[in-house]
Formats: sequence, C-alpha cells, structure tokens
Amino acid sequence: MKKDLLTLLDLSKQDFDLILHRALDLKKALKTNGESAPSLKGKILGLIFDKPSTRTRVSFEAAMIQLGGTSVFISAKDTQIARDEPVRDTARVLTRYLDGLVIRTFSQEFLNEFARYADIPIINALTDLYHPTQVLCDIMTVMEYKGRYDKLKIAWVGDGNNVANSWINASAVLGLNLSFACPDGYEPDPEIIKNAKKNKKSRIMVTNNPLEAVVDVDVIYTDVWASMGREDEHAHRKLIFKAFQVNQDLVKKAAPDAIVMHCLPAHRGEEISEEVLEGPQSVVWDQSENKLHMNRAILDVLMAS
Ligand code: CP
Ligand code: NVA
Repeated sequence: MKKDLLTLLDLSKQDFDLILHRALDLKKALKTNGESAPSLKGKILGLIFDKPSTRTRVSFEAAMIQLGGTSVFISAKDTQIARDEPVRDTARVLTRYLDGLVIRTFSQEFLNEFARYADIPIINALTDLYHPTQVLCDIMTVMEYKGRYDKLKIAWVGDGNNVANSWINASAVLGLNLSFACPDGYEPDPEIIKNAKKNKKSRIMVTNNPLEAVVDVDVIYTDVWASMGREDEHAHRKLIFKAFQVNQDLVKKAAPDAIVMHCLPAHRGEEISEEVLEGPQSVVWDQSENKLHMNRAILDVLMAS
C-alpha cells in the first residue's frame, strides 16, 4: 500500500527512526565515499508548489537526481488547479504520470484530498498547518549535535505556526520535552497539543514569557513572525512579537552548549538577531544542508519499493 507523509502523525516511532537513520547513513556515505545510493532509477517525482520555496524545492529536486530519478516542477498557478479543476481529478490524472508527489500549498485539506485520490505517495512540503519534512530534518540535526532527541529540552520562541505544530506532532510520536513561548493569541493549536500529550513521554509547556521557556534548554528554535500567506499582518506582528526575538540575552539563559535553530528564511533583527544567527551556537547552515539528506531518505523510504 502506498504511504503518504501528510503530517508527522503518519509515522510510527519505528518509521521515524528508520527515516532518521537512513538520512544519517546516506549523508555519511555521500560525505565519505561520494556514494549517492541511486535507489529511484527511472522514477519521476512531481513537485506542485503554490507558495515560494528555495530550500525545500531545490533539496527535493537535488535529492531526486542523486537517487537516480527525475523530477518535474509544477507551479500550481500555471496549472488547471488555478482554474478550479477539482482536486480529485488532478490527483487521479497525475497519479498516472508520476511515481510520487511533493506538494506545498495553503490548505491541509487540499493536501489530504489529493492524497485520498492519488495512488502514489504524497509528501507535504508545507501547508498553513504543518511542515513535517522540515521537522524531520531538524530532528536529524539535533541528533547530530546532541546524539539524541529524547531527554533534551527544546524551546520554541515566536509564532505558534506550521513548523511549531509539526514539532508538537513529533512529540506525539517520539515523546519530546518542548516549551513554547508565544505572544498571547499566537500559541500553537491546543488540539494538536492535546493529541501530543496522549504520548505519556510528551512534556509540553506553553508560556507568554520567552525567558521562562528557554531556561537551561538544549535547543532554541525560532521562525518568521509572519508566515507565507500572512504578509499583510507583518507590520502589526512586528510590534506584538518584539519581546520574542532570539538574541544574545535570551540565548544566555539556555544551557551553555545550547544550539540555535531556524528553518530559514530568516529576518535578521526580527525573530533572530544577526549576532545569534551568525554566532557560534547557530547550526542553521547544517540544518539547511540536512534537508537534502533527509529528503533523500524520505523519498527512498516512501518510493523505492
Ligand atoms: N525551510 C524551508 O522550508 O525553506 P523554503 O521555504 O526555502 O523551502
Ligand atoms: N512558517 C514559515 C516557514 C517557512 C519555511 C512559513 O510558513 O512561511
């Protein structure tokens, strides 16, 4: 049966660990022997993007080339989707041309419907609600720097957005210790938190005080204050989120060897200071590189059989 990655809740802990270790192994083989493990020879991946992307698009396309396959980039606005062709029709047609599809769009429901009608693996490359492939690559990066993902304190500072929601889903599967510092009204979805707490190992704290969230943590994570599609709120959010900047004063409250993460693109001087982004505790460039290795692992696990 085909397997999708629509949210991290689609993965069991075993799936998670398999993908994480596959990504780490693929990275090691590439770095040490130049091996690219072409497990997808002759396969075609489609990428439908309805929002901009630098990292996710290019890392998936490069991943597909390294795996021996080919990709087709599809700008959603140039398709009949933009002229209201029903999702279920598009999904059934593209299934007949492609072996897998990566989709970046606004509505999670669009993605879910696409997956219901497609017979090929559908991978969520970001919706308004979730960004699962990002958090897989983030956890890979945490593994590299800290040797584990459990028994670590991870703080999220800023907007309770799609990436934050995927961290919470990761906790539903893995049982993580997460603290979120968000302005009042911008916290992550309480239903997503409630679900994650069904995993007895989940420790999830939400506060409106960034200083409280980061005390002694091993990882500080931030993301833009206004996600794609919310650009019109940017000026207003800059005022509301002002006290939620990850800067040196905040980082000092974390453990001395804490790492600072950001999925990028970053707005220096807003959610993160230049000094921290470019400083010794920032791991953002390795984190970004890992999108390539993680996406190779995701495609390999979902499409190679
Ligand atoms: N982090 C991330 O998803 O970046 P892009 O928007 O450039 O793909
Ligand atoms: N939360 C951000 C992530 C970008 C990769 C957005 O949705 O724009």
